[in-house]
Amino acid sequence: MDAYEFSWELYKAQTEDFSEDLQFYQNFSKDCVTLDIFSGYGRICNFLSKNNLFISAVEKNKNFASHIALPKDNIYITDILEFQTKKKFERIIAGYNSFCLLTEDNDIFKFFSILKSLLSSNGKISLNYFHPEFWKDSINQEFFFNGMTINYISDYNLNLDRKDMALWIDNYIVGNKKYTYDYKVKVYKDINEINKYLKKFGLKILDVVHNFNNSNTSELGWQDYIIGH
Ligand SMILES: C[S@@+](CC[C@H](N)C(=O)[O-])C[C@H]1O[C@@H](n2cnc3c(N)ncnc32)[C@H](O)[C@@H]1O
Repeated sequence: MDAYEFSWELYKAQTEDFSEDLQFYQNFSKDCVTLDIFSGYGRICNFLSKNNLFISAVEKNKNFASHIALPKDNIYITDILEFQTKKKFERIIAGYNSFCLLTEDNDIFKFFSILKSLLSSNGKISLNYFHPEFWKDSINQEFFFNGMTINYISDYNLNLDRKDMALWIDNYIVGNKKYTYDYKVKVYKDINEINKYLKKFGLKILDVVHNFNNSNTSELGWQDYIIGH
């Protein structure tokens, strides 16, 4: 199932100007062989590549992946859960609230076993999470797409039967039409709930970076879990 199958163009147009995290990932990956996972249309990896970082990308949606501007051999169009390579990476980035798109225990354990196998011995991973405590303060925006003005209004449902899962909801208002897309996300209340998955693989959270170390973020609640051996 591809949650972005119908929403990818609007999602791309809505998010492509977001740049508050780029400097953080540039510092994080400086001089390191880096893998950007859940890359989308390459918002982060295209920037890092332009800034001379050696970077590869993993993205499962072909439409998004067609916008990744890296050498062909460095683009892997696949589900991260199916990703196989003998290469090792010194830095792995999962930006913009992506790893929480894995909601099932089996998938999450598989994900961390794959990350473990990809990470070099002194490597570090940065997993970004927009913490649900801050969702109520998330901001709406207006953007332009194909000559149209679009109003974006976010919403969410934190009251599903499964307490460790929520729905993040994107509403796009175009004239008098509303397009709604929702995404299931895993809810992690605190780092203990992530450590539970890491222990088995000898990984741990080394640090938590808030709001990309950037005092000018437009929304609060962004956390990057820095993980290593
Ligand atoms: C929230 S977007 C983030 C995009 C990008 N990292 C950014 O910062 O703009 C999540 C991306 O992860 C991709 N994705 C979701 N599940 C995936 C999976 N299991 N394997 C690979 N990519 C996946 C989606 O297609 C989408 O492009």
